[in-house]
Amino acid sequence: MGLLTYVLLPFLTMAHDLSGNAHTPVLADLPTLRALNIPVLAENKDAGVGYAILTPEMEAKMHKLSHSMGRCGSFEALPMNEGFQTWSVFSQLDQLQRLVEKDKAYAAVSFRTTWMVPRADIVDALAEVQANEIRNWVTWLSSFKNRYNKAPDANKHIEPFIQRLRDMTKNSLLPITIDTIDHNSTRQKSIRLRIIGSTRPDEIVVMGGHLDSIASSIFGATEIAPGADDNASGSSSLVEALRVIMTKPQPERTLEFMWYAGEESGLLGSAEIAAEYKRTAKDVVGALQLDMTLFPGSGALVIGNVQDFTSAWLREKLVAWNQTYLKVQLINDKCGYACSDHASWYKNGFATLMPFESNTRNMNKQIHTANDVISSTSNFEHSAVFAKIAVLFAMDLANSTDHQPY
Ligand code: BES
Ligand code: ZN
Repeated sequence: MGLLTYVLLPFLTMAHDLSGNAHTPVLADLPTLRALNIPVLAENKDAGVGYAILTPEMEAKMHKLSHSMGRCGSFEALPMNEGFQTWSVFSQLDQLQRLVEKDKAYAAVSFRTTWMVPRADIVDALAEVQANEIRNWVTWLSSFKNRYNKAPDANKHIEPFIQRLRDMTKNSLLPITIDTIDHNSTRQKSIRLRIIGSTRPDEIVVMGGHLDSIASSIFGATEIAPGADDNASGSSSLVEALRVIMTKPQPERTLEFMWYAGEESGLLGSAEIAAEYKRTAKDVVGALQLDMTLFPGSGALVIGNVQDFTSAWLREKLVAWNQTYLKVQLINDKCGYACSDHASWYKNGFATLMPFESNTRNMNKQIHTANDVISSTSNFEHSAVFAKIAVLFAMDLANSTDHQPY
């Protein structure tokens, strides 16, 4: 708990007594609680955060106030029933302080535990993910000479890729649109496929990866850049997630699949898109980045959970999804710099998640060369885990009210 000092009011134990359905325990902005005369049961003055149990009337007042202030205003209940302990209030206050320190003020925020009940529809969807489908897509994408954004024919793969997406999704019953996004910083286009949400279409769940490739030598970029692992693999893991998701009921929130341009030349496509989404105040719940999924450098089904330029609540979701559904080995690691497109979203204030093929130390050493091809080390079952993460990202987040700061 570090140097934090908490003022505990004598009513804290009432949390247990007030656990009827009508009352919602929350961590919330302290001035807001005070302004609304809501009893504060525990508080962290430094973080400006209070713990309170809301009656439905109080909850309505909180929503009204936060909406009037142009904030999302939704919060999630803290777990109140089994296993709810005083310490969890403290540890969650601690987490919240770290976010408040990042100078983000939210009317009402709370954190979930990593405990989840498996959903049968998700279990079934995950079982539909097929490694061989990913193999077919990586084979096709890596057969282009390159997908380099500065090549004379920088868009040679774009229309054929879209055509394949159209063919794949043509029998889906969901409202799907596909468009290209032009950029100022590169002639290459990004691709966006939307599945419009049923009840909250303005809330957007982004899943992306860069479609471009590069091969560099001391003399500059070279022509042959198959980019099988970097990043036909992440792009293809996304397509495989889409193939499964398009047969499922329409999500409540909008899903946006993105295949970015010019990542290898400095996150070009995603930087423009994320800045534009910020400028137009789009409500992005989270952005998943898949960049390199094919080389199991730390062992088969050992997956990195990248800790920098990513959001604690989504990293914790990945831990929970893993415990509940995937049951692979997750290792915490970091890039140490803005290594891929998730950083574009993060820098623009959006929540992000980036699972990676290995510990970065053990990553594929053939990337950015003509040797980044499908080889004996390629493991499509490994890539399938990332498609499953995208299925979870879509089916869980796009049917929930989860919304937390980055
Ligand atoms: N896929 C790579 C980078 C990568 C390396 C991601 C290790 C995760 C772990 C990505 O396409 C890339 O090469 N990025 C550039 C940075 C970019 C800003 C040009 C890099 O790492 O040099
Ligand atoms: Zn990459």
